[in-house]
Amino acid sequence: LGQLLAAVPPERNQLLPALHLTQELFGYIPDRAVELVAAHVRMTVNEVEGVATAYPELHRHPLGRRVIRVCTGLGCWTAGAERIVAALENACGVRLGQTSDDGALTLEATPCCFVCGVAPVVEIDGVLHGRVTPESAPAFAAAPAAVTGGG
Ligand code: FES
Repeated sequence: LGQLLAAVPPERNQLLPALHLTQELFGYIPDRAVELVAAHVRMTVNEVEGVATAYPELHRHPLGRRVIRVCTGLGCWTAGAERIVAALENACGVRLGQTSDDGALTLEATPCCFVCGVAPVVEIDGVLHGRVTPESAPAFAAAPAAVTGGG
């Protein structure tokens, strides 16, 4: 990480690039990296922690091998995302925001995916699926390749 950070100017406005580089290296942002980045861009650990936890694309913990994201933006929420979350929590055996103990799967929320016309939306390993229902959602937990997107 030290070698990577050397390519980033040691300035406060370089915090996000430094955090993104860190995540590219480790797949998430470990505690020790928060300290190293803070020292590099001359900010406090708390300031860096605040930013690292504020952006949904930044992860402070390792993600599962599969990542299921439920859009909880307003459009999806009013279209029933709460019931999708409940169905997926039940099917996956983890709560929203958690990774399974075996590291197989992460279930988390995502802000609006900008396809509100097909709400509610679920993202599976980077692929968006629309018009998800509480009945269709559990299939995402079992076999992502077997699930097709909505119109
Ligand atoms: S609110 Fe879910 S796609 Fe916009």
